[in-house]
Amino acid sequence: MPLHSGLAGQRVLVTAASQGIGFAAAKAFLEEGARVVINGSDSRRLEAALSRLRPLGTVSGVVGDLAQRADLERLVGEAQKTLGGIDTLVYVTGSPAPGTFMEQSFESWQAAASLLTVSPAYLAQRVAEGMVAAKTPGRLVFSASFAIREPIPNIATSNVCRIAIAGLVRTLARELGPKQIRVNGVLPGYIGTDRVRHVFEDAGRRRGISAEAAQAALVQEIPLGRIGSPEELARAFVFLGSDMSSYVTGALLPVDGGILRSVG
Ligand SMILES: NC(=O)c1ccc[n+]([C@@H]2O[C@H](COP(=O)([O-])OP(=O)(O)OC[C@H]3O[C@@H](n4cnc5c(N)ncnc54)[C@H](OP(=O)(O)O)[C@@H]3O)[C@@H](O)[C@H]2O)c1
Repeated sequence: MPLHSGLAGQRVLVTAASQGIGFAAAKAFLEEGARVVINGSDSRRLEAALSRLRPLGTVSGVVGDLAQRADLERLVGEAQKTLGGIDTLVYVTGSPAPGTFMEQSFESWQAAASLLTVSPAYLAQRVAEGMVAAKTPGRLVFSASFAIREPIPNIATSNVCRIAIAGLVRTLARELGPKQIRVNGVLPGYIGTDRVRHVFEDAGRRRGISAEAAQAALVQEIPLGRIGSPEELARAFVFLGSDMSSYVTGALLPVDGGILRSVG
């Protein structure tokens, strides 16, 4: 049986999509014929992304800060209005500042919790409400990080707060399965974006070596021997965000070149 994504005409919301992982996800869904709404917090960056994506299909944008309740509510409302409902949510978000556990302040924990824990849970709730009301057999796909399985040095707030995605995926998969709404997560490893370049710069500074040397040392730990591309990661979002994964829910899929060592 040939594989078809079945995404033509489907209604997709991708958050944090003006560049990097979210942008690649939005592009992949557009290439499959879906209608897409993207989001970012900076209007200029969002407009630049839209002008690159428009030649590929039907896409529009909603400016909004994913850490703000009012913006989350407006984002879902505008996306539902523009698309006439939402079939697939791909939740990507921003990054808290790098730093060790002992470098954090009360405010930095609060900011990370807002962005990495409260935001995906509240947005998912708003989107799922619409799916349930419209009896849409929807899909929620959350981008997290392989750090939720094996913490990464110097991104302490992310290591702690992103684990919420695992709880969210498992909880929602059970609660929404009977409504035919599937809920899954993707665990990116090192993916070539601005964010990962900042992580290597920070790692290099701390060890007194260049960002390139820090990257080369890290790549030695990746069995496939290289950083992944946003496009390679985007295929996992298309799989989990379409009927290609029709019997998959509650899963957390690493896309990491094999860097995770743990069993299970
Ligand atoms: N790259 C990796 O290797 C990797 C691995 C694991 C996990 N991650 C995580 O995956 C996510 C995306 O990473 P990336 O590599 O694609 O980063 P990126 O290239 O820096 O892109 C981040 C995107 O998020 C948007 N954004 C940031 N804060 C936002 C906010 N508060 N509200 C709405 N949009 C916001 C940015 O647009 P604006 O600035 O215009 O808002 C931008 O479009 C991050 O959470 C990152 O920590 C990345």
